[in-house]
Amino acid sequence: MLNTFRMKVFGACYAEYDNVEDLADLFRDPSLPRPFFPIGAGSNLLFLGDFPGTILHSRIRFVEVLPGDSGSVRVRVGSGVVWDDFCAWAAAKGWWGPENLSLIPGETGAAAVQNIGAYGREVKDLIVEVECLDTQSLAPVRFSVEACGYGYRESRFKQDWKGRFVITAVTFALMREYAPELDYGPVREAVAQAWGTDRDLTPRQVRDTVIAIRRAKLPDPAEIGNAGSYFRNPCVSADQFRAVRTIAAEKGFGDVPYFDTGEQLVKIPAAWLIERCGWKGFSEGNVGVYARQPLVLVNATGNATPDEIRSLENRIVDSVQRTFGVRLCPEVEKVGLPASPDL
Ligand code: EPU
Repeated sequence: MLNTFRMKVFGACYAEYDNVEDLADLFRDPSLPRPFFPIGAGSNLLFLGDFPGTILHSRIRFVEVLPGDSGSVRVRVGSGVVWDDFCAWAAAKGWWGPENLSLIPGETGAAAVQNIGAYGREVKDLIVEVECLDTQSLAPVRFSVEACGYGYRESRFKQDWKGRFVITAVTFALMREYAPELDYGPVREAVAQAWGTDRDLTPRQVRDTVIAIRRAKLPDPAEIGNAGSYFRNPCVSADQFRAVRTIAAEKGFGDVPYFDTGEQLVKIPAAWLIERCGWKGFSEGNVGVYARQPLVLVNATGNATPDEIRSLENRIVDSVQRTFGVRLCPEVEKVGLPASPDL
């Protein structure tokens, strides 16, 4: 079944739809096994076993330019458009916005559920409006970006709206004017190295650089099964951060890196915590921790079972908790009964 972890699991039924009316018809069809579970490319999922219901997959694949103002351009994109195809399209137009999110696996609908983010940009920064099917009334509905409750890898689609709304299209505001975001981690340096300057760049140049950074750090799911970052970067209080710093100093780990969230909380890279606990490059049986980015758990042989991944997750969570007093939370969504929602 469609999942980048390459788990050998099967759904009882699989259905695709080309528009919101088709999707509503699937929900009306009593012959389809329940529950329904909408997926994109299955790039952020861990199926815990075979799925007894119907997997829904969007084939809504249009990109439509809407009238915008002079500075921005509005683009309405079907939920089944491969996210990186949209990034490539925008860069070819010379419009700014999605270039730092290049090469993130998955499709546009899932990107808006998950609020994908990379290199200082999150997709919520570009979203104007999200169109959905309301699976209760079977009517199409629209939500403004403010209504969607976006936060770091978070949205209402993952919380109180889970199972209620299926995203069918997303409208983005892209920028015509020069708007690169180069201030996250290695981006500015990598851009300067690749293009000899960090000025007068094109979205295409930034996109190509981000792709090169990602390819160097992250495993290609076509080669090694994985679901990107398995854990979220934990956000801790200032007191907790001081405690982590003290532990790191006592253990000789040096400075603790952090991201400023602009709020009360401090975000610590989970990769740093996991590496300090000795997991980087770990491998056992069919599973492992990717050697170049320990935030990524891998199906190293292609034969991993969901339980092997879960057991590795638990061991990592326990050891980071014991060492630093910080509890890691998975970012990857687990799908399996009875935990999955009854749509
Ligand atoms: N680090 C280590 N060891 C490593 C790698 C990283 O200690 O082997 C530490 C370093 O201090 C480094 C820091 O972790 O500066 C951050 O690393 P990186 O820039 O690679 O990013 P990340 O915080 O680990 C997040 C996202 C990624 C996204 C990158 C780039 C999450 C959970 N992950 O990772 O998203 O590509 O930033 O913006 O927020 C994904 O969600 O699937 C994903 C890959």
